[in-house]
Amino acid sequence: MLFKNLASVLLLPAAIRAAVTNLTSSSIACNNSPSLCSKRYDQITYLGAHDSPFLRDASTDYSTSGNQYYNSTVQLSGGVRLLTAQVQLTDNDGTELHVCHSSCSLLDAGRLSDWLGEVRVWMESNPNEVVTLLLVNGAGASASDLASQYQRAGITTDLAYTPSGLTSGTQSWPTLQSLISGGTRLVNFVASLSDNAAAPYLMNEFTYIFENNYETTTPSSFSCEAFRPSDAPGYATEAISGNKMPLMNHFLYQETGGDFLSIESPNATYVTTTNAPSGGIGNLGTAADTCNEYYGRNPTYILVDFFNVGPAMATVDRLNGVTTVVGRTRVSTANEAPSSGASLVVPESRAVWSVALTFLLAFTLF
Ligand SMILES: *[C@@H]1O[C@H](CO)[C@@H](O)[C@H](O)[C@H]1NC(C)=O
Ligand SMILES: *[C@@H]1O[C@H](CO)[C@@H](O)[C@H](O)[C@H]1NC(C)=O
Ligand SMILES: *[C@@H]1O[C@H](CO)[C@@H](O)[C@H](O)[C@H]1NC(C)=O
Repeated sequence: MLFKNLASVLLLPAAIRAAVTNLTSSSIACNNSPSLCSKRYDQITYLGAHDSPFLRDASTDYSTSGNQYYNSTVQLSGGVRLLTAQVQLTDNDGTELHVCHSSCSLLDAGRLSDWLGEVRVWMESNPNEVVTLLLVNGAGASASDLASQYQRAGITTDLAYTPSGLTSGTQSWPTLQSLISGGTRLVNFVASLSDNAAAPYLMNEFTYIFENNYETTTPSSFSCEAFRPSDAPGYATEAISGNKMPLMNHFLYQETGGDFLSIESPNATYVTTTNAPSGGIGNLGTAADTCNEYYGRNPTYILVDFFNVGPAMATVDRLNGVTTVVGRTRVSTANEAPSSGASLVVPESRAVWSVALTFLLAFTLF
């Protein structure tokens, strides 16, 4: 009897580990939630990390051009599902495509193919996640130039989604579950790409998406009006009825250097309000509700700087009606870069662990 009890106590942790693994494994959830699997791609709201590879951390000597405190891998683990980046030609030889902020002399985050490879590696270890990339084509690169970078990163049409009709409305796109089952879980947009015949999975952003203004410098100026591809009055309504997906830019720039040599950089001091779920002028929660009312639907993408602050994810979960979060990593919401060497990530499954520990305790006592 004693032996049997002892045995069950010894066996229990393995069983609990298995159960916890089952609960947190992405096999029962799509994009961190069981309730999103059956939704169509365009019906979901995705949190986007603006200028994903441009970091304000020790690796860039805390560059004020940096838009994020944590790298793209941590962004994805923390729930971000849209990554944007600017593609530029390096200044030295002018031939290599890098991800650079405005110019490669300002902030060079390395080869485009290396950054794409980082995304691929994350996706391979997270097989139930659908990720979207938006490349701002500052280099004016052709579809085949960009495609060779994707290829070098190990990304082909096995992973990249290709819509069936080149300009087909996104209301005919698959659900998350079918994208996952088909393996085509990486959705790629380029702003802009007039001819994508060489690589049809690289989609011209403005065929499918419209955006509000992105150059906001005062919190009271966030607007839901369309800005690109057109800022004509009423264009947002037209775009919505034409099934274009709304991308809501929600980040604040600050201007320094005066009228003649004005330099824009991310406003980090105000981001605790900018990304907040409520409270304060320009908070994300209220802005998202305002755009929802204006568009008659939720924005498909919400793009923020310093994604961990707010946390911005809280607003996105609310818009998606997500209450059960599976397999997401908890990232500090502090408005600062992580101190080097700090262990910043713990699994976001505290509830599960406390249930498991309660069971363990109960059985041990029994
Ligand atoms: C985990 O999931 C698998 C497949 O759904 C199932 O066969 C197994 O019994 C589960 N294990 C536990 C401990 O719940
Ligand atoms: C991203 O950041 C984490 C935490 O700082 C680090 O462990 C990881 O190596 C980084 N990954 C890449 C690809 O830079
Ligand atoms: C950031 O935005 C806030 C709110 O508008 C403003 O008070 C602050 O001065 C801005 N920071 C900088 C450095 O411009």
